[in-house]
Amino acid sequence: MDSFAINSLILFPVLIAQISDCHIRDSTGMFGDLVDTSETLARVVRHLNSLSPVPDVILATGDLTDDGTEVQYSMFLDLVSSLEIPLLPIPGNHDVWDTFRSAFCDHLLNTATEEHCSYVVDGYPVRLIGLDTLTPGRHDGLFHDGHEDWLDHVLQMEPDRPTLIFTHFPPFTSGLTFMDLSGLEGADRLRNVLEHHPQVKLLVAGHLHRPIQTVIGSTLVSVCPSTGNQLGLELDPMTGSAVDEPPGYQLHRWDGHNFVTHTAVVWEGTRMDLSDFVAEVHRRADTGEGSPKAHPDSTTTQSNPA
Ligand SMILES: [Fe+2]
Ligand SMILES: [Fe+2]
Repeated sequence: MDSFAINSLILFPVLIAQISDCHIRDSTGMFGDLVDTSETLARVVRHLNSLSPVPDVILATGDLTDDGTEVQYSMFLDLVSSLEIPLLPIPGNHDVWDTFRSAFCDHLLNTATEEHCSYVVDGYPVRLIGLDTLTPGRHDGLFHDGHEDWLDHVLQMEPDRPTLIFTHFPPFTSGLTFMDLSGLEGADRLRNVLEHHPQVKLLVAGHLHRPIQTVIGSTLVSVCPSTGNQLGLELDPMTGSAVDEPPGYQLHRWDGHNFVTHTAVVWEGTRMDLSDFVAEVHRRADTGEGSPKAHPDSTTTQSNPA
């Protein structure tokens, strides 16, 4: 079995962060005139480092570099080096297997077969399965017989353990047509595997550069925004655009029964501190008084913000 364990005590809730589609470039760093992807990843890392509570693990769901060169992987690793959280990577269509494997050999301890970089991580309350459906030399993905046999096998081994699969290509039609046309061949077979293994509570992917959710069987399926540029929300089949909406990431919270997925927008705007209001909400929850319209002692306008 190609898996490795995390030797730490993880308590509920489990917080699983996800970054995706970082597209680190080594020339100017810019994508068109839109985004300096190194600068935006650095901003996301600062954001992740400021979180409380700290996530237990970070999934990096592919297209971590733009061309898969050694220099770009070195830049990526440098940019995430300040994270004190285990990072589990899986490649996307902009990555290159050989350099990916070399760059992440410390993160892929007993990585899977020669045919694909898929692996299992035990040791968290949720089983984590990285699924690599990259097709070398092509821009679309493929879920082939080998993937199907491997995934079905590892899921059959632990049918009662809640499981999260992380991969690059989402196995559904999003309506972003030009991306769907270069999506995952064999997605119907992956969906079939999910439907036969209801312990898969969540599948997370990237590639679409937007936050998107759907359901397959009893599995919540979520796509993470990019840490660089997003794609425009354009559902006309003949249109498409890249936009400079802010970088983002997702935080998947497992409470032992359900996953809740939060999408974080990494912006640097104004923050109004609501600590007094929060304290009042807690006090009233303890006494059964109900939620306040406004903080009764506040000299400011700290009314109920939501
Ligand atoms: Fe991408
Ligand atoms: Fe991609």
